[in-house]
Amino acid sequence: MVDRLATKCGPLELANPVLAASGTFGYGDSFERFWPLETLGGFVTKTLFLAPRDGNPAPRIAETSAGMLNSIGLANVGWEAFVREKAPRVNALRGSARMLVNIAGNSPEEFGEIAARVEADREAVGCDAIEVNVSCPNVKEGGTNIGCHPGQFRDAVARVRAATTLPMFVKLSPNVADVVPFARAAAEEGAEGVSLINTLYGMQIDTELRRPVLGTGSGGLSGPAILPVGVHWVYKVRAALPELPIFGIGGISTWQAALQYLMAGADAVQVGTASFVDPNACREVLAGLDRWCAMRNTSIGEIVGAAHRVGERAEEPVWTG
Ligand code: SIN
Repeated sequence: MVDRLATKCGPLELANPVLAASGTFGYGDSFERFWPLETLGGFVTKTLFLAPRDGNPAPRIAETSAGMLNSIGLANVGWEAFVREKAPRVNALRGSARMLVNIAGNSPEEFGEIAARVEADREAVGCDAIEVNVSCPNVKEGGTNIGCHPGQFRDAVARVRAATTLPMFVKLSPNVADVVPFARAAAEEGAEGVSLINTLYGMQIDTELRRPVLGTGSGGLSGPAILPVGVHWVYKVRAALPELPIFGIGGISTWQAALQYLMAGADAVQVGTASFVDPNACREVLAGLDRWCAMRNTSIGEIVGAAHRVGERAEEPVWTG
């Protein structure tokens, strides 16, 4: 019998296509009191550096009309504390849910260094893959200055590849004229796949104080506002690089949004900001996909990339309007 939810993203076998996105799910243990972690296809940790970081000055979060601005600045506990204090607990909870550790550094060299530590500790940590964050818009070093710069981008990805044999997914920035060349470069440098998109640059002004709300001025926009942007880039990357596995991210707060990403060509999706609004968001998205597939007697495998195969269906939609 075909398991309608089971899918693959490159070498990663997933019980279902719903993962929790980096930066919205702690280190995997934050939602323990709401629902079992093993429900998920997987989760991605907050970005980890070798050393702990405090991040940016407050305020670091602002609500917008259709989403959220953040300027966290990659605050994290550092690799050693993650290995010692977080990974054991998460491994006890996660069942078949895949664990992707999201990593970054201040320079391409530091990307290579943390990847080497992940490789050295991979048995102890039990992670299934690495997600390389070269796309944070909130840091002066190690973010979009690398991820939007073709030379630095290739250098960072190549250094991670040289340091580890773990499956590598590169998280891409939408803050470029064209995401496709970056996806291609990631593949050429040995990535198993890409995650897209990270947040878009944004700013909100406090009109009483006459200054930006965020402590850093600008931040990264996420949430429903960016859904069409993410779907657009997933579609474009899938069309240009049909064999490259994709995690679709950006503005997924409903199962219908997840379905759009899957049909645009994502092999699986990551739910992010929605979990701040409703801690059950991941579960609801998954339940909706399950119902939808059951009602149509189809499977995730069958719908991935469906929007590229228009005309293949026996029954085309009938437009009445
Ligand atoms: C942050 O920590 O500033 C957000 C993470 C990211 O955008 O990659």
